[in-house]
Amino acid sequence: MEVHETAFVTSAFRAMHVLLSKDEFAHLWLNDRVQHWADTYLSTVTGEESAAHSMRNRYFLDSIHRLFKDGNIEYLINFGCGFSMYPYLLPHGLKHIEIDKPEVIRHKDQKTELWEDQGILPLRNIVRIPCDFSENYEKELIGKINDIKKNSPCFILLEGVLFFLTREEMLRLFQLFNTLQKQGDRIGSVSFRAKDTESKAFALLLDFMKKENPHGTEEARYQTVEEKFYKSLPGYELVDQQDFFSLSKSYQHQPSATQDMIINEQFYQLQKTRP
Ligand SMILES: C[S@@+](CC[C@H](N)C(=O)[O-])C[C@H]1O[C@@H](n2cnc3c(N)ncnc32)[C@H](O)[C@@H]1O
Repeated sequence: MEVHETAFVTSAFRAMHVLLSKDEFAHLWLNDRVQHWADTYLSTVTGEESAAHSMRNRYFLDSIHRLFKDGNIEYLINFGCGFSMYPYLLPHGLKHIEIDKPEVIRHKDQKTELWEDQGILPLRNIVRIPCDFSENYEKELIGKINDIKKNSPCFILLEGVLFFLTREEMLRLFQLFNTLQKQGDRIGSVSFRAKDTESKAFALLLDFMKKENPHGTEEARYQTVEEKFYKSLPGYELVDQQDFFSLSKSYQHQPSATQDMIINEQFYQLQKTRP
């Protein structure tokens, strides 16, 4: 499975728990290959992952919806958007910029255009930009985004992406967010702390990735981020932090796995404190 193909799997997980994820369109991305990946992942890593990814989507969906309703944001900018369907799940007035690798953007544009024409998806204001965060992209991307959103308040989402990036690529992204955002704007971010990688389920995830790696059986490279990174990010304040367990309480999800068989991702929201 290539990195960009993991986006199909997270969509399949959301489709398995529509009541929890509230993603009523995730099923559109399903096909036999995607279903097979998702089922294999759940049976060899841990069955709790589909609910975990559904709650992750729900947490950001609810937060972004509230911020839009209260007039705090006009744009959602989704970095590494994959096949997430936030534009179609959120009210019409919110505008969207979605960024991902060229192959993801090409496929997403093609499919959503077709589904919009067929009336399967509602019409939304979305600009999609192909971009690889491992390349030298900053100047061009900042120009494109500023041309679109001007000074409008925005929520930047980085969901399920940091795991795949290097430390340097992550630091460059957060620098870019600082350039793009104004006081009061928010970032939503998802990552693992080193201690979240100590569970049995996380070891099984690494085994799974090694087996599914099309480039041979090299060890999966992954990144962890400690809370202190978010707490000390210049110009930002950490305003919310959740994890699998806190979201399970909020959304009345009763895990069926033991603690060791849960992959405990951390979910953060940061607010910019300076102009
Ligand atoms: C696990 S998927 C998550 C997708 C979506 N955010 C979600 O939560 O469903 C990871 C996404 O990050 C994107 N990604 C990973 N590395 C990237 C890079 N270097 N540049 C741009 N996108 C990248 C992948 O293409 C993929 O769509």
